[in-house]
Amino acid sequence: MSIFTFKQSSSCTLLFVAILCILAIYTIHHTAIKNTQNRAEYYRHTFLSLATNQTFSSYLKDLTLHPHLAGTKLSLKTAQYVQTQFTQLGLETEMAEFQALLSYPVHSSLIVHFSTGAVKDMALMEMGMANSGVVMPYHAYSPSGSAYAKVVFVNFGREEDYSALGVNVSGCAVLVRRGEMGRGAVVEKAAEKGAVAVLMYTDGDGNSFNGVERGTAMMGIGDPLSPAWADVLGGERLEVGDNEVSKRFPKIPSMPISAGTAGTILRTLGGAPLPLKWRDALGAKVGGIGPGPTMVNLTYQGEKKMAAIYNVFAILRGSEEPERYVLLGNHRDAWTYGAVDPNSGTAALLDIARRFAILLRSGWKPRRTIVLCSWDAEEFGMIGSTEWVERNLINLGSKAVAYINVDCAVQGPGFFARATPQFDDILIEVTKKVKGPDSEGMILYEEWTRSNGGVNIRRLSAVDSDFAPFLQFAGVPCADLYYGRDFPVYHTAFDSYSWMKLYGDPLFRRHISVSGVWGLLALHLADDIILPFNYLPYAAQLQEHVNVLRKSLEASVSLDPLVASIENLASAAKEANDEAKKLMEQENSDELSILKKQALNDRLMLAERGFLGVDGIQGRKGFKHLVYGPASDYESKLDYFPGIVDAISQSKRMDSRERQAAIQHEVWRVARAVDNAAKALRGQLL
Ligand SMILES: *[C@@H]1O[C@H](CO)[C@@H](O)[C@H](O)[C@H]1NC(C)=O
Ligand SMILES: *[C@@H]1O[C@H](CO)[C@@H](O)[C@H](O)[C@H]1NC(C)=O
Ligand SMILES: *[C@@H]1O[C@H](CO)[C@@H](O)[C@H](O)[C@H]1NC(C)=O
Repeated sequence: MSIFTFKQSSSCTLLFVAILCILAIYTIHHTAIKNTQNRAEYYRHTFLSLATNQTFSSYLKDLTLHPHLAGTKLSLKTAQYVQTQFTQLGLETEMAEFQALLSYPVHSSLIVHFSTGAVKDMALMEMGMANSGVVMPYHAYSPSGSAYAKVVFVNFGREEDYSALGVNVSGCAVLVRRGEMGRGAVVEKAAEKGAVAVLMYTDGDGNSFNGVERGTAMMGIGDPLSPAWADVLGGERLEVGDNEVSKRFPKIPSMPISAGTAGTILRTLGGAPLPLKWRDALGAKVGGIGPGPTMVNLTYQGEKKMAAIYNVFAILRGSEEPERYVLLGNHRDAWTYGAVDPNSGTAALLDIARRFAILLRSGWKPRRTIVLCSWDAEEFGMIGSTEWVERNLINLGSKAVAYINVDCAVQGPGFFARATPQFDDILIEVTKKVKGPDSEGMILYEEWTRSNGGVNIRRLSAVDSDFAPFLQFAGVPCADLYYGRDFPVYHTAFDSYSWMKLYGDPLFRRHISVSGVWGLLALHLADDIILPFNYLPYAAQLQEHVNVLRKSLEASVSLDPLVASIENLASAAKEANDEAKKLMEQENSDELSILKKQALNDRLMLAERGFLGVDGIQGRKGFKHLVYGPASDYESKLDYFPGIVDAISQSKRMDSRERQAAIQHEVWRVARAVDNAAKALRGQLL
């Protein structure tokens, strides 16, 4: 019923007044929404205009003054530096401490015995770095031990390499070049083949630097003593000897060596000649694969010990939806000075904080809460972020809108982005707003697509940075951004400020660009009234995955359930997009329409959780994402649907009926997950 009561005679006037009122309200609301949009646009524009290369340069210089390996005093100092910067900007900050089992070297040596009788004690540390305070090259969590053994060259150390080799490596030390698999997987495979030790080197352009690549050899992520639960003071912690713990550690000693040392050994191996395909290793034209006659005597002594690690946060409270979180994260700990890995990202995080602080002072209030996260102990296996995600699993699961990661922000030229596909549209949109760093007058989008021959957004199955626990454990939509790849000083003592200044980003323009994308994504996700997530590209990407999968499957496995679920997701996505459009056209900002918008936002946020399966990925505690996740078969060419990939490789020896059933079951599991995502997007009970 109308709230107006009026006499018939004055009804016309009143009606006219009422219409005027409605028009006025319409105009005010319309202007209000336009104003909100204009203001948001204004803040985004201001954010970009506030970038200066000097601030990046000075943050990076400060962060890389000394090495800051996780768990050390200098690492704590770096954490305090970051917190001090946040505080001085007037931001609310927090530091979260955890205790975790880390691993450090005590002593190592490598003596090469040549067939000529010559014996050479190889330098393991990079030249000129002996008294620098940089940790000696080592593989974290390698067992202590020594071996005196013949050397065999096994290329990348994959199953196919051992098959091509045709040599029994039992009792030998294998020489491996890094590249195709994680360190832990390489060592595990070598141990399975009977090798007694592993020597690993990195070839490529890095030869001229002759650095040595440190790294973790532990499998999985997070503190090994609290698998899939958060480390808390006085909480449950496993013993180091517990099977759950030790199964994540390598079983035989391994050691990183320089390409120079590897070449010295490789050139003196006998046996069958190097297969043609392997000859590009170290540019080796002569020599064999072994075993021997060259022998190595290697000794590694390390210690695993509990150490304090620190995550540092800056929190910008949301004004309208304080309990919705937009998280930006980068790790801070480094193997050495960490100019590229990871502090180019930390400099970007700090510069975003600096610019956000200016926006706050000029009246900006993010609609949703933004959290800037600086993680510790990523290098040991994403320990800082994983423990924090485990501690906050419930609240992240219900309230985290997105996590955007930047690890090595700048490694060299070329923009790269990885994301869950609902990010695609907004990611493309913001790259059209940011200047490209490498060609005058070009926007980032043009540079990016020109070098790729189109938009190329990769996906996030790899477990190689801090987005992994957010995506795998909590089902939070994730993105990961960086400039350049395969930089030659990766994890070496030469990853320093001067390398960045000379090679990586001399004028810090790439830093400006990557932080532009990062910050704009954050501003959209924090301020857009309707979250800028589109699930149609997700459905299209899934369909492409299915098309590729089909080629590696026998016809007896039906992909129909998966195809049907993807169609279901596509129609749910279309409904959500239509609803978003309608809600944006409505000029009302009454309570009901605000609630409707927030309800839609929650569904756009939660749909990603649908891809989590209760039973998760086989053999990987806590890993639940059934679309993007690590398969146990790390040699598979498919980097999605990990459950299906594993069923394919594990059922090879089964009879065809059993095999078909095993794979079919996994197809059904993914189909149910995709249906769950569609249900979450629709949000109705049925
Ligand atoms: C390799 O050699 C070891 C010991 O010399 C032996 O026990 C093993 O069976 C051999 N493996 C193969 C596949 O021949
Ligand atoms: C291997 O090297 C260690 C010292 O690093 C030495 O004690 C040991 O005797 C050597 N073993 C052989 C077999 O040469
Ligand atoms: C910043 O860029 C300008 C040129 O645009 C350059 O002259 C200056 O050296 C740069 N500063 C740093 C610290 O890289």
